[in-house]
Order: sequence, then C-alpha cells, then structure tokens
Amino acid sequence: MSADKSTSWSYAEDLPAEDDVLMRARERSFELGVTPIGRGVGAALTVLAAASKAQTAVEIGTGAGVSGVCLLRGLGPQAVLTTIDVDVEHLRAAREAFLESGSPANRTRTISGRAGDVLPRLTDAAYDLVFIDADKPSLPGYVDQAIRLLKSSGILIINDALDKDRVANPAARDASTTVLRQVGRSIRDDDRLASAMLPTGDGLLVAVKK
Ligand SMILES: C[S@@+](CC[C@H](N)C(=O)[O-])C[C@H]1O[C@@H](n2cnc3c(N)ncnc32)[C@H](O)[C@@H]1O
Repeated sequence: MSADKSTSWSYAEDLPAEDDVLMRARERSFELGVTPIGRGVGAALTVLAAASKAQTAVEIGTGAGVSGVCLLRGLGPQAVLTTIDVDVEHLRAAREAFLESGSPANRTRTISGRAGDVLPRLTDAAYDLVFIDADKPSLPGYVDQAIRLLKSSGILIINDALDKDRVANPAARDASTTVLRQVGRSIRDDDRLASAMLPTGDGLLVAVKK
C-alpha cells in the first residue's frame, strides 16, 4: 500500500464524528475489556442500516453497545434490534448506551446467551439485517444461521473480516485467521449472495441475500 493510501484510510476512519453517547459507550467497552467497532465501521453500519430500510435486525456480539447504537441510528423508528451476548455485564452496559441514545426500550431485544444456542430459536427469513461481531471460531455456524434468518434482499455484515490484516498474509495460519479466510471465500462463492469486502476498519464483509 502506498503511503498516500494508508493516509487516506486513516483519514476515512477518523472522519466520522462521534457524540457523547458513543464516546461513553466506548469508555464502558474499554473498562469491560471489550473491543468496540471503530468509527469508520460505526458510520458504515448506520448507512447500511438506513439504506437497507431494515425493520428487523440481529446483532451477534452486543459488547457495550457501540455497534448497537450505530445500527439503531440507521434503522427506522419502528425497527427492532435483537442483540445477543453471552456476558450479562456487557448487556447491562449496552442497555445503558441504548437508553442514553434516546432509543425506546421496545426497539431493542437484548438476549443473554451463547449465540450458538440462541440463533436456532429465531424465526427463518424474518430479518432484514444480521451483524456478526463475536467469537470467530464459531463464525461459519453464525453465517449459516444468518443466511437462514435473512429475508430475500436482507443484508449480512461481518466485522473484522480481515482479522487485523492477517487474512491477506498467506503466512498467517492461526485458527481465527484461517476461519475468516475460509468464510470470506465461501461467501464470495455462495450463489445465494452478492458480496463485497470493504476495507473499512479491520475489514467489513457485506453480503446481500439474492
Ligand atoms: C468484539 S465484542 C463486540 C463489540 C460490539 N459489537 C461493539 O462494537 O460495541 C464481542 C462480544 O461477543 C461476545 N461473545 C463472545 N462469544 C460469544 C458467544 N458465543 N455468544 C454470544 N456472544 C459472544 C462477547 O461477550 C463480547 O461482548
């Protein structure tokens, strides 16, 4: 990458402005040891949620609510975000962020549990958007579930899809990088999906169910 390209990437990541609600959610994330999405990904989530006109969204990996607030800001006023996390402290912090963002309580459904147990209980083809930002080894199973959950024209978004620049390095063969590399290729080759790998943040893999 040229120095200019790297400078442009940093510029694009830093360009989105963040308000006090998101800054406090970030602080709570760091206090809890959670890595929240970056500002570029947050802005992209808001745009994708708004552009898709999603009414029903699922998030896997709530954390302290940074990504949830960004999604809620793009979703319409009647839309509902179902968000899943295994850690109750993270969910508590996220609820605080949702409240501070002015989102009515009935717009979010926070579910405590392992996504692998919760996702199979959600209804087929009932969701417009699925965002995945949780344990990477389970990603192939989450993607299968997401495709089942999505309506036609629904959008799948996977955070950290370039695994902090390791996916592009063929010498990187650790388990999480290998999983992300395989998932990237299988989504690319899946005839049910149209996909794009955006270089935003640590890679945002976006796919639409045809
Ligand atoms: C990277 S953080 C999510 C950050 C969040 N999306 C944000 O930007 O604010 C990953 C989250 O996934 C949760 N997690 C890890 N394994 C999980 C599992 N098996 N099921 C559900 N959540 C899980 C963790 O507790 C953590 O809160």
